Amino acid sequence: MSTIRVRFEPAGFEVDARPGEAIMDITDFNPGAEVPYSCRAATCGTCRVEVLEGRAALSVADSYEREVLEMFGDTPDRVRLCCQARLVDGNVERVTLKVCED
Ligand code: FES
Repeated sequence: MSTIRVRFEPAGFEVDARPGEAIMDITDFNPGAEVPYSCRAATCGTCRVEVLEGRAALSVADSYEREVLEMFGDTPDRVRLCCQARLVDGNVERVTLKVCED
């Protein structure tokens, strides 16, 4: 199984991960990623990140995640919730996620 390099902005933190891993688990193990969480259950939108690179390596957003993104005027092709997204084998070597500021 391939390795995916996941970069978090604005922290500039990078870590190697594998398809199947949840982004929330990756950031819990790597506080240097500096992704903020609150509800951890697709309710608050605190963990929103802009997908700058590697969208194909992220799991498809379910209806709960889509609903939260909609509340912020976002769509899953541009923004994801770190408490919901998981890495998948999308034939992508790099993913870059940027914490939303608002
Ligand atoms: S932490 Fe609340 S939506 Fe992700």
